[in-house]
Formats: sequence, C-alpha cells, structure tokens
Amino acid sequence: MDTGRNHSWAPASVSQADAERAPPILEVHDLTCRFGGVVAVNRCSFSIERGRITGVIGPNGAGKTTIFRMVAGALAPSSGRILFEGEDITGVPTHEMFHRGIVRTFQIPHEFGRLTTLENLMTVPSGQPGENLWRVWASPGRIRNHEAGVREKAERTLEFLNLSGLRDELAMNLSGGQKKLLELGRAMMTEPRLALLDEPGAGVNPTLLASLAEMIRTLNRERNYTFVIIEHDMDLIASLCDRVIVLAEGAVLTEGTMDKVREDPRVIEAYLGGGDEADEAVESKASIGSASE
Ligand SMILES: Nc1ncnc2c1ncn2[C@@H]1O[C@H](COP(=O)(O)OP(=O)(O)OP(=O)(O)O)[C@@H](O)[C@H]1O
Ligand SMILES: [Mg+2]
Repeated sequence: MDTGRNHSWAPASVSQADAERAPPILEVHDLTCRFGGVVAVNRCSFSIERGRITGVIGPNGAGKTTIFRMVAGALAPSSGRILFEGEDITGVPTHEMFHRGIVRTFQIPHEFGRLTTLENLMTVPSGQPGENLWRVWASPGRIRNHEAGVREKAERTLEFLNLSGLRDELAMNLSGGQKKLLELGRAMMTEPRLALLDEPGAGVNPTLLASLAEMIRTLNRERNYTFVIIEHDMDLIASLCDRVIVLAEGAVLTEGTMDKVREDPRVIEAYLGGGDEADEAVESKASIGSASE
C-alpha cells in the first residue's frame, strides 16, 4: 500500500487562511482507559493545533504514554473519541494510523540492535512494493528504484541527524542519546503529519539535547510536522513549546504557556503531592522539572 507521500522533502505549504479554517489536527474527547481497576486516563479532553509544537507534562503515572498509545492506535480506549483532522479514528489500528500520517516515538527506544543505523531507517515500513510477489515478477525495476529511493532517504535522514558517521555501526553500539536521534529518524522516514514524541530528551546529554531541540524546530518550521512532545525536562519544553498541557491522574489539570503553568500552585502540588514541600516550591518558584525522574 502506498502512503501517498513521496520521497522528496519539499515542505507542504499551508496558508494562514487554510490553517484557520481547518479543524485542529487532533482532538480527544472524554478519553478514558482502564486497566482492570486502574483508571490510567480519566475522561481526558484536549485539542492540538496543526503546525505547532505542543508539550505534554505531568508527574509519573499521569497517563501521558497511555494517551499516546491510544492516539497512535496501539491501545483501544475504554471510552471516548479521537479525531484526526476532523475524522473519527477511535480504535483504528497502528498500521492504519501510520498511513494517515501519525507516528509515535517510544519512551524507551525500539531500535533493532543487530541492524546497522542505516538499516534501522530502511526497515521503516513505507508501502514497499517488494512485499507483493506479483509485483516482484511484473516489475523488478520498479522495486529496485523504490529501494534506491528508500536508501537515499535514509542517508539524507542520517545527514540531518548528524549520524552519517555511524551509518554502518550496529544500533546496539549507539549511545542512549544517539538511539533517541535514531528514533526521531525512524519517525522522519514516514514523513508524518503528526509526530508524538515520548520523552525524546530522556537520557540525552546537554550538547546532544540542544541539537535535538534544533532538529525538532527545523522539522516543524521547514517540513510542517506538527509535534506533541511528552517531556520531564521543563527547560526543553519551555524552549520548544508555546503551549503546554498539564496532565494529572489521567485528566487535564491546566494548560497554557510554560511560564504560566510552571508557577501554577496546582501544578506544583500535582508534582510534589502537596504538603509543605509544595508550598516551599511555590515560594521559591522551584523548577518542577526536578521533581520527576
Ligand atoms: N499495560 C498496563 N497495565 C496496567 N496498568 C498500566 C499499564 N500501562 C500503564 N498502566 C498504569 O496506568 C497509569 C498511567 O501510566 P502511563 O505510563 O501512561 O504514565 P506516564 O504519565 O507516561 O508516566 P511516566 O512519566 O512515568 O512515563 C499508571 O498508573 C500505570 O501504572
Ligand atoms: Mg510515560
């Protein structure tokens, strides 16, 4: 199956007027997910504007990853609805989401350790025509051309990520930060409309983190990726996102700019669990980022 997205990286231009007319790229309404007696996500509702980088923060166990799993089709909600570009996609499986242009990166990278860095990118499904035996017999040249296109795209992705020097290295030998970059690269191979990044900065050293942030900005500005980013690094969120959604106990606690939410006593209380510590944090305007992981 062809995704309809080609291998060129020309940015799709969306006029201001079009953007204003269009529905939010993503809406979730009353989304709920129960695991037995645990209510991981509890009637959660929010929307994501296209073309933006939106942050999702909240203490450990707030339900952030579970929401990403439901939006990306890895987990069926117990109730509630998910709309992508105005269309109901609740319960649609991952491979279908992927073809619609939704991709998720993982909190813990999912690289293939025994494949090279380049091969890891080339294995990202992209409607490879070689999968169909009839097509192999009927048009082998077309398949060769397709594979050459995928390889070229993988090479360009590695260049973008400054990983070309590691193209033939086994992925298991990459550092934690390089694996995170590779995870972003695997998302890039699908040319997503909506990229859900689950803690892209976790375990990444400060220098690499600065370039990762710049890459995300470039993909947003020049290639029109809409990003939703779960992160515990509040400085990273503050530098990338003009809007932040704060989750606690499976629902939206508040939203706004990072400056606004980081000084909201309810947010500090959610991170610290209330009590004297929370009061001190409000007074000292302590970084809420330091309270997690
Ligand atoms: N597969 C599962 N089975 C049972 N409970 C689960 C499952 N996945 C998540 N949970 C529970 O659901 C709640 C939300 O988990 P989730 O992983 O979404 O939190 P999170 O906000 O991503 O946390 P963190 O910041 O630690 O990654 C937690 O209480 C967690 O233990
Ligand atoms: Mg998580």
